[in-house]
Amino acid sequence: TKRPILIQGPMPIEAENFAERLENVEIEQSGSTFEFHIGTVDGYPVIVSKTGKGMENTAAATAIAIEKYNPVAIINQGTSGGHDPALNVFDIVLGERTVNIGSMKTGDRAEGEGIEATEWKPMDVMASEGSAGEDPNAEKARYYEGDTELLAAANRVKDSYTQGKVVEGTIGSADVWNNEVDRIHWFHENYGTSVEEMESASSAMISKAYDVPFLAIRILSNNKTNEGAYNPETAAANQEYVYKVVQEYIAAL
Ligand code: 5AD
Repeated sequence: TKRPILIQGPMPIEAENFAERLENVEIEQSGSTFEFHIGTVDGYPVIVSKTGKGMENTAAATAIAIEKYNPVAIINQGTSGGHDPALNVFDIVLGERTVNIGSMKTGDRAEGEGIEATEWKPMDVMASEGSAGEDPNAEKARYYEGDTELLAAANRVKDSYTQGKVVEGTIGSADVWNNEVDRIHWFHENYGTSVEEMESASSAMISKAYDVPFLAIRILSNNKTNEGAYNPETAAANQEYVYKVVQEYIAAL
């Protein structure tokens, strides 16, 4: 039997559009929040996973899916907020890299010396088995590379997407919604982020732990840096594009 392709979406509007396109569907549930729509695309097994929002839900949903369904590849997709002023609502970022932008170590300040967020350093919890707070090698961001074959398939169908542009970039994830434009610029400059959201780096970390090819594909639903107002219609547009990526990937398998 063929190993399925796993498509993850956090919110119902980020998973249902793709799930409705599946053929021969069966739904399986794990716990109260994890829902797997098990079906086919062009006769090939594809599973749509509604992960729920955020890093913990996504890590758990990814590990459960890998253990239960042994996917050949994982795509984490959904909406995001722009960090790059050159990107507009409805543009799509292919995650050449994903990075956890909530994993940080603060500066060393005594009582009364205040809180200085721009002084915080990235922290890599995978740098060593020792204390991430004490290990100088952990003072760096960990970037997860998007899989080359998945990226290639996504690039081959990018001209089919007409509601915006499709670019490669860096996707930053954390359980934080940044609305301070100076902080957004700071991430763009220090981490090279194109967009932020709350899931991809979590799924990338777990996919890597099991050596499963991974790609994040994120559409901008908002961009504070260029007055791009939130538009929930972007969630469906992204799933339509990801469906084409999946068809293209299957054709090349
Ligand atoms: N910041 C953080 N998360 C965002 N999302 C969309 N835009 C943003 C943003 N600007 C996504 C997250 C999460 C939900 C709140 O929407 O991935 O699932």
